[in-house]
Amino acid sequence: MPAKWTPDSWRARPARQMPTYPDPSVLAAVEKKLASYPPLVFAGEARVLKKQLAAVSEGKSVLLKGGDCAESFAEFSANNIRDTFKVILQMTVVLMYAGGLPVVKVGRMAGQFAKPRSSDDETIGGKTLPAYRGDIINGIEFDPAARAPNPERMVQVYGQSAATMNLLRAFARGGYADLHRVHGWTLGFVDRSPAGEKFRELADRISDSLRFMEACGITPDSAPQIREASFFTSHEALLLPYEEALTRVDSTTGDWYDTSAHMIWIGDRTRQPDGAHVEFCRGVENPIGVKCGPSLTPEDLKVLLDTLNPERVAGRLVLIARFGSDKVEAGLPKLVKAVRDAGHADAVVWSCDPMHGNTLKTASGFKTRPFDRVLAEVRAFMRILPEEGAYPGGVHLEMTGDDVTECIGGATPVTEEALGSRYHTHCDPRLNADQSLELAFIIASELRERRAERRMAAAGF
Ligand code: PEP
Ligand code: CO
Repeated sequence: MPAKWTPDSWRARPARQMPTYPDPSVLAAVEKKLASYPPLVFAGEARVLKKQLAAVSEGKSVLLKGGDCAESFAEFSANNIRDTFKVILQMTVVLMYAGGLPVVKVGRMAGQFAKPRSSDDETIGGKTLPAYRGDIINGIEFDPAARAPNPERMVQVYGQSAATMNLLRAFARGGYADLHRVHGWTLGFVDRSPAGEKFRELADRISDSLRFMEACGITPDSAPQIREASFFTSHEALLLPYEEALTRVDSTTGDWYDTSAHMIWIGDRTRQPDGAHVEFCRGVENPIGVKCGPSLTPEDLKVLLDTLNPERVAGRLVLIARFGSDKVEAGLPKLVKAVRDAGHADAVVWSCDPMHGNTLKTASGFKTRPFDRVLAEVRAFMRILPEEGAYPGGVHLEMTGDDVTECIGGATPVTEEALGSRYHTHCDPRLNADQSLELAFIIASELRERRAERRMAAAGF
């Protein structure tokens, strides 16, 4: 029998990647304040997401998760939120149209502020300071005051997350996501690109279909799905004092939920089976993601499956493969087999994060990701999963609606020389709107091919 879980039982376990706050009494006061604040999401919404993810685990839907590597105080604006939301909507219709399947939409938004780092310190020009760990912990400016961990930042994150959530709810339900507006989702700079052009053609076809459906009597009033989108939020549950403070008992079921987001995930650096992050996540009923990188052994994965989902509830766990295009071939099949051997194959969702294993540094010092490698990992994932008898359920992307130059390549290529012109990320390089849309078209064509193969096989060819 596992030991009793409580929202603070993680405190007895080793916790990696956590800051040491200079004054514990300030931390305690912030935790108390946050614990008295309203939840950011409702347990019932997290249950709806779990149901939708259960459909992904059965191969009946596709999961699309995307957003910033790290949200920040400086880049917080209605336009940024709207533009990322728009691109996710565009990618959604591309995937729906080609795959013929519903798309579960989840943002890395409204709470994605804490970052794990490979080193505790950073040295510039002979000076060493604590590493930047995301705006929820310290500031990105390279000076001692900014880099000191400050618990008050959690309160600002709560406020920014609440405002972001509020706007996302309004966009999703208030008419902005109405399929009749499909042409209006294209951002100006994407309109002229090859992906933008393809999208315009697709949008024309959708508008035609809507007119036909309306002639048949299917209208937004009779089918509200035409007018509204369901949209969920997620982030890495890294800063556990913040997550604990927002963990509440759901009055309907009596179960615990982390109300900081609909879904949370455990990062590749904090997924030790006996560690604090796994302990915290096992006790909340939200859908949980687990990053699966090259260092995850099949044995540890089996322990994680049984710890985080002992009842094998479909839709509870999303395994997010993030190997890198050069390691996915060697690493992924054995994890898929481990899931099957452990008897969890019907419950999990497999998703592909083609970002975190494909990061490199250019000679001029920019962290970047070649679009080709991102693409190669997605393609390998979509091929390997069916070969191993599993369903490639979705993707997990670092992306933005902005016209940034952070990842190199794409059909309107970002060159290595251009990286400096609009490099805005607070952490890892993101796909820009154009690259995101291009990727959606490529995934869609893979989905279409696989659908055709399945039809041929069913017909006995
Ligand atoms: C992330 O998703 O931002 C991240 C840090 O990923 P990983 O834990 O897979 O490195
Ligand atoms: Co990242």
